[in-house]
Amino acid sequence: MTTHSLLILPGDGIGPEVMTEVRKVIDWFQTNKGIQFDVSEDLVGGAAYDKHGVPLADETMQKAQEVDAVLLGAVGGPAYDNLDFSVKPERGLLRLRKEMDLFANLRPAQCFDALADFSSLKREIVAGLDILIVRELTSGVYFGEPRGIHSDDNNPQNEGGRVGINTQRYTSGEIRRVARAAFELAKKRGNRVCSMEKANVMESGILWREEVQWVHDNEYPEVELSHMYADNGAMQLVRRPNQFDVIVTDNLFGDILSDAAAMLTGSLGMLPSASLGAPMANGRPKAMYEPVHGSAPDITGQGKANPIACILSFAMALRYSYDLGAEADLLEKAIEKVLADGVRTADLMGPDGGTPVSTSQMGDKIVEALSAL
Ligand code: IPM
Ligand code: MG
Repeated sequence: MTTHSLLILPGDGIGPEVMTEVRKVIDWFQTNKGIQFDVSEDLVGGAAYDKHGVPLADETMQKAQEVDAVLLGAVGGPAYDNLDFSVKPERGLLRLRKEMDLFANLRPAQCFDALADFSSLKREIVAGLDILIVRELTSGVYFGEPRGIHSDDNNPQNEGGRVGINTQRYTSGEIRRVARAAFELAKKRGNRVCSMEKANVMESGILWREEVQWVHDNEYPEVELSHMYADNGAMQLVRRPNQFDVIVTDNLFGDILSDAAAMLTGSLGMLPSASLGAPMANGRPKAMYEPVHGSAPDITGQGKANPIACILSFAMALRYSYDLGAEADLLEKAIEKVLADGVRTADLMGPDGGTPVSTSQMGDKIVEALSAL
C-alpha cells in the first residue's frame, strides 16, 4: 500500500492555527478512506529564525526535497519586520521555491456561489467565476542579478547618494516551461490562455510574448492564445473577470494580479495555491502547496482565521501530488456544502452580521460534511 509523504511547515501567524484544521482532514482520510499519509512537521519563517537564526534550516530544505509534497501555512509578522533582509521570514519561502525549482505557481480564483455577495464587485460580475492564474515563480525580478542597495557617491545630482537595483531577467527556457504548464492546464479546462506582460516597455516582455507564442504555434496550436499588457489585464480582471480561463504571467505581475483576482472571490481566506516543478522519480511534480493569504498578525491567536484556503491547498495536493482526484473532489464538495449551509468564519460575515464560527469549528464542520457526503 502506498504511503504519501507530506512535510507540513505551519510557519508564522495564523499558519499554525489553520494547519491544525488541515490535520483533522488528513486524519479523516486516514481513518475513513484508508489512505496512508506519512506526515512530518518542521519550522519555516520567523518560527525557524527564532530557533535556528535562519528562516529555513538546511535540514528542512533537504527534507522538502525528499517528500512527495510540502504544505506551508504562512510566513512573516511584525516581530520580524526589522530583521536583516537576508534572514527575513520571506527568504525561507523564496528559498523553498527556488531550490525546489517550483516554476509554475497555480492560483485558482473560483467564486463559490454562496459567497458571491461577499465580493467587492457585484454578484453578476463574479458569479460562476473560475479562472486560473499561472505565475512564474522562480525567476524574474524576484531573483534577477544584479540586485542590492548601493551608494551612488559619484553622482552629485542624486540627493541621498544611494541606488536600489533589481533586475528583471527571463531566459527563453524559463518562459517556455511555464507556458507549457499553462497550455497543459488550459486543455483540461476552457482551452484558453491569456498571456500578460509589458511588451510595450520591457524587452523581457517582448521575449515573454514571443516565446509564449512560439510554444503555442509549435506545440499547442489547438489552444486559444491571446496576449494582453499586464496593466490592461489588471483592469480587465475587475471589469469582466469571466472573460479569462487561464492567465500566464511572470513572477511580479503574477504576485499582484493574483491578489486582485483573489479579492474577486469574496475573501483571501478562501484561496489555495500549488507550486509545481519538474517531475520526480514517482512521475509526480515536485510540489509545495500554500494558501494565498499571509500570516495575518492582526487576527493571530484569536480563532478567527479561515482555514479553508489551507484545506483547499491540501485538496490540490491530493489532486496533483497523490493522484487522488476523487478525494480532492470530495473535499471540495464538503467545503461547498458547509458554505451553502451558511457556516461562516469572521472574514465571510456580510454587513448584516450573523454569528461567525471559529477556526476550529469551521474545521469540525468540514470533517462532519465529509462524513455526511
Ligand atoms: C505571495 C507572497 C510572497 C510573494 C511573499 C510572502 C514573499 O506575496 O506568495 O504572493 O511575494 O511571492
Ligand atoms: Mg503575494
